[in-house]
Amino acid sequence: MVASRSAYPHKGKTPILMARRLIVRACNKFEGAIRPPSDKSLTHRAYMFAAMANSGVSVVRDPLNGEDCESTLECLQTLGATVHRVSEKEVRVSAIEKWADYPVTLNCGNSGTTMRLMCGVIAGRTGVDATLIGDQSLSKRPMGRITKPLSMMGANISGDTAPVHILGSKLEGLHYDSPVASAQIKSAILLAGLGAEGKTSVVEPSLSRDHTERMFEALGVHLYRQGTTVYIEGVQSWGSFEFAVPGDISSAAFFIVAALAHRNSEVTFRDLGINPTRTGILDVVSQMGIAYTLTNEHEELGEPVANVTFHAPSELNPFVIEGDLVPRLIDEIPVLAVLATQCHGTSIIRDAGELRVKETDRIAVVTKHLADMGANIEATADGMIIHGPTPLHGATVDSSGDHRIGMSFAIAGSLATGETIIENADAINTSYPEFADHFHHLSGVALEVAE
Ligand code: S3P
Repeated sequence: MVASRSAYPHKGKTPILMARRLIVRACNKFEGAIRPPSDKSLTHRAYMFAAMANSGVSVVRDPLNGEDCESTLECLQTLGATVHRVSEKEVRVSAIEKWADYPVTLNCGNSGTTMRLMCGVIAGRTGVDATLIGDQSLSKRPMGRITKPLSMMGANISGDTAPVHILGSKLEGLHYDSPVASAQIKSAILLAGLGAEGKTSVVEPSLSRDHTERMFEALGVHLYRQGTTVYIEGVQSWGSFEFAVPGDISSAAFFIVAALAHRNSEVTFRDLGINPTRTGILDVVSQMGIAYTLTNEHEELGEPVANVTFHAPSELNPFVIEGDLVPRLIDEIPVLAVLATQCHGTSIIRDAGELRVKETDRIAVVTKHLADMGANIEATADGMIIHGPTPLHGATVDSSGDHRIGMSFAIAGSLATGETIIENADAINTSYPEFADHFHHLSGVALEVAE
């Protein structure tokens, strides 16, 4: 028996999940409404675009206060931005007037988005001399996918993995045919293209999230899009802006799955970002024959937002994830695999080889831990095949430092008999510091800290 205490001794103050080991127990249902944490991709971009503006102070409301976006803020400060945290709900970032012209180390922590987009931000800034480093997981992830196209633009950049070294230099426009549908690759090239001479374009095999394009359009930057190609002219600028960051559908996904998989559940997500390049999970829900409702639809700096409500169906049908759908729900696949264990029939996930180069090899880790909990699951080179429904039983699961693995298995634990212990659960702070609070609020069951 593991000694335990409540996971949120700081209730009422900043909700930070501090536990390294969490205990999860079975839940009956998930019920109520939450405002999911703010969007990680949008918070990174808002901070970067504020620092890159030609002048002024931008106001980012409701930023994600998770560790990944904090890494971006710290890198920008190192490069010369002034950051004023008015409150947890408002961060002001000044446009950088003078970019650091001495050697700097930019610590990107666990954040692939920080490292890859930051390469695009600085590659064309002469005088900048930066070394980008990251934690153990980030240091293993492929950076050649960024350094190669940026080199083709004339960047002085090296490193197939971190550390990545950049000496800012004059860039030229490039037409890049990306082998992967990746918003990080696309955005890094577009950001570099802004400082390059001539036109830059990126074509991808299917459309990845288009936040960079939408925010640029809303800021008055001219770009042209046709299908999966985006073109941008070099040397454009924009002024300071205000942006209220909507909720992150990739974080909501954990409780969407909880709401669908637990009988009699009903959960509403307020202010949820529903950009069509991110709503693959809604397509899966529809594919399963489940209806959801949208209310209060509006826009924030080109990004569609709504309140979305889900009800548990009486029976769960299996689903297939493949092709163009994959980049639209890439981060949600681990928790959708958990859902598949409860579906009546065989669910198939294919064309998702990118999962192998995320914070962990998510195909290997999800398959191993779900099998440990009693699921009938097999890994393939680019996905998983899951036969359901299978009852799950508690097991000890290591997040391996991957926030989405930690949260996916907390949801698996809510469906399992006995205790599920999540090791290295503090990785959840990367993107969802309020996770334990929201779990308790919706399920009535407290996650506990194992001593
Ligand atoms: C992100 C893009 C995705 C996603 C990541 C955030 C972004 O990565 O997995 O969590 O903010 O651009 P890829 O574009 O490399 O697939």
